[in-house]
Amino acid sequence: MVHPDHQRLAYLQAMGIDVWLPRGAAEPADHVIPGALAAEATAVEGLDWSELRQCVAACSRCELVQSRRQTVFGVGKQDADWMIVGEAPGAEEDRRGEPFVGRAGQMLDEMLRAIGQSRNSVFIANTLKCRPPNNRDPKPAEATACRDFLNRQIALVQPRIILAVGKIAAQNLLGCDDPVGRMRGRGHNLNGIPLVVTYHPAYLLRSPSQKSKSWSDLCLANRLASEGTA
Ligand code: URA
Repeated sequence: MVHPDHQRLAYLQAMGIDVWLPRGAAEPADHVIPGALAAEATAVEGLDWSELRQCVAACSRCELVQSRRQTVFGVGKQDADWMIVGEAPGAEEDRRGEPFVGRAGQMLDEMLRAIGQSRNSVFIANTLKCRPPNNRDPKPAEATACRDFLNRQIALVQPRIILAVGKIAAQNLLGCDDPVGRMRGRGHNLNGIPLVVTYHPAYLLRSPSQKSKSWSDLCLANRLASEGTA
C-alpha cells in the first residue's frame, strides 16, 4: 500500500512539478517513488521515436488510463513539413489506435488533399493521446500531463508549419482561451515554428458554410510553410 503523501509527491514529480518542503520537514520517510510512477518521471525530452512511443503506450499520468482501450500516438511522416494537431481520440480512434479515422478524419483527408498533402506526407497528432470518456472536452490537468509528449513529437518532426485544428488544440498550443474565430486567419509563432489555427473538421461537417474560411487558413499555412517564417 503506497502512502498517500508518497503518491502525491510521485504524481507531482511525474508531471515535472517541483515540490517544496518546509525546512526541516522530514521528506516522506524512505522517499521512494513507486515503481510505475518512477518510470513516468523519466524526462520525455531527449527520447527517440521508439522510446517516446513506448513511453506513451505505458502512460498512466492521468485518469484516462482507466477508460482508454489504447493510446493513440500519432501517424505520418516523421520528418514531415506539416504537422496537424487535433484535440483527442474519439471512439473510432480509441478502437483503431490511429488519429482522425472517423468521419472527421475523412474531412481532414479532404482538407489535406486540397493542399496537395496526404496522411502519409504530414504528421498527425492530438493534444491528448487517450480518449476522454463520452468524448467530453479534455480537462486542463489531462492536457498538462500529456503536453510533453506532444512537445517531444514537435521537436522530433521539426515541421515547417503546425496546423492546429479546433479550439482545444489551438488553446492548448498557444496557452490562451480565445475562440477559434479570433485565433484563425493569421500566423502565430510556437517557439519559432509558424502555427495556423483553423476549424476542426468535425465542426466543418456540421457547418459546411465555414469551409471557405478554412480554405483560406490552409492557403495561409501553405504560404508560411514555404516562406519558413513564423
Ligand atoms: N478529433 C480529434 O481532434 N482527433 C482525432 O483523432 C479524432 C477526432
